Amino acid sequence: MVFTTGNKELDILVGEIPQKYMLLIVGHPGAGKTTLASSICYANTLNGYRCLYISFYEDKDKIFNNMAKLGIDLRNAEARNMLIYVKIPVMKPRGILDVLNELIAKDSYRVVVIDSINPIMELYRKKEQRAILLNFFYNLLNTINGLLVAVAEIPWGRESLNLGSIEFISDAIIYLKHRVIQGLLVRVLEVRKSRGSPLNVVEIPFDIAEGRGIVVYVPRNPEKPAISVEEKLRSRVVVDELVGGIYRGDIVTISAPPNARSPWVFMPLLDITIENDSKILIISYKYSPIEIVSLIRSVLVNNMGLSSEEASWVIDRYIHVESVNPASISIPRLANFELRLVEMFKPGIVVFHACEIPWRVMKSVEDVYWTQLINQLIWLENQGVIVVRLISRVDKHFVKMSESLSDLVIRVRYRISGNELKPIWFVWRRGGEPRIIDFSSRDIAEKIIECSKKFKEIIKMRIKTSLPPSTSLHTLQP
Ligand SMILES: Nc1ncnc2c1ncn2[C@@H]1O[C@H](COP(=O)(O)OP(=O)(O)OP(=O)(O)O)[C@@H](O)[C@H]1O
Ligand SMILES: [Mg+2]
Repeated sequence: MVFTTGNKELDILVGEIPQKYMLLIVGHPGAGKTTLASSICYANTLNGYRCLYISFYEDKDKIFNNMAKLGIDLRNAEARNMLIYVKIPVMKPRGILDVLNELIAKDSYRVVVIDSINPIMELYRKKEQRAILLNFFYNLLNTINGLLVAVAEIPWGRESLNLGSIEFISDAIIYLKHRVIQGLLVRVLEVRKSRGSPLNVVEIPFDIAEGRGIVVYVPRNPEKPAISVEEKLRSRVVVDELVGGIYRGDIVTISAPPNARSPWVFMPLLDITIENDSKILIISYKYSPIEIVSLIRSVLVNNMGLSSEEASWVIDRYIHVESVNPASISIPRLANFELRLVEMFKPGIVVFHACEIPWRVMKSVEDVYWTQLINQLIWLENQGVIVVRLISRVDKHFVKMSESLSDLVIRVRYRISGNELKPIWFVWRRGGEPRIIDFSSRDIAEKIIECSKKFKEIIKMRIKTSLPPSTSLHTLQP
């Protein structure tokens, strides 16, 4: 590829950008046109192509400052003499094209951005005038022998600009759109190829993010669940006893009454993580990472009998916790954040904690919620990741739908045993008989004591023989 859009994902969507290529960026005010154009320009200067940025509206300092906040360092490109930014006043028809031609001929540029072409279009309204304009763009492409990025603004209240022949001569058009879902702004971009390739339209969400500029959320929508290899995970301690085995790619739904959640549910997860020396990623929609870590610590110490140092070792080595407020970000952004975390930490198990919260927040767009969730689950399953969804039973329909998507279902209830409440688990594995695990029974209590002993031994052995955790895990921003 000769030129880039400055964005890996977008490069794939747009395809190869060879010489003499015209890219049209279309959108409403504030859609992100200038950001995308600047980002394209900046990325190409980094690849050694000089860029001329022509603006009719915005002062250099203002735009350079705005873009710098987004990680697009136009000032640096200018300092390297790879970028010339020119703001020209809108003028008479004849004058404007001459001024542009003069500017472009002055030096050799391989990328030219015109932000925007609206003032020119306004001046060349009539049919025969449009021919002059098209001719101008053709000549421009030949002169620069590179990439022309033309920005076109659609006024509010209109869905398209009568671009006509301009659309026809562009090689690709990127439409930037806004939508408001659950009161949150969702940006969507649509790529339309008009020349040199079969017409294909792709619409995907994106964001403009501090420090990162244009972030494209490529949906990871696998077409079908991969044929699952039934690879049972080793577990020396409790899993087989309690739930009858966990397999790679399993989707596990664990539900509890909203007022009584059992910390025991983390035990089988810790068991297979440690035994298989993999990692757990916990994404909580409710608690902070510190709260989750202290919950895990109490399970390791109180329920599994580890010392405080041993518990810390387990937490440092095997567990990464992130929290996100699902009410604060859009569905595509949330999904992208979660999948990026998985790609980054490569956990064996990902635990979604308090899943009823995103579901409730997105209830008004429930179809979007389930579509997104199913795509995500299939993607994770295809990666061989075990997904554990911890939910409070706040809604029958939600619990049933969640369980119907699962390979393993655990319903935690409580029963009175003496003057205590003890958990009792109802466990169903796809294709198997249900089991009941009664934590008040002597049999289970003995097994857990025995398991805890073994667990402690394994940890001691691991601590003795292993190197310190190799990766320092840093956090990600959604
Ligand atoms: N630092 C930032 N962090 C996140 N978003 C930002 C930041 N700065 C700007 N934005 C967003 O970028 C958008 C503006 O982008 P841009 O100027 O590229 O749009 P535009 O389509 O060129 O607009 P116009 O039609 O007014 O020229 C705004 O919607 C704003 O919310
Ligand atoms: Mg702009």
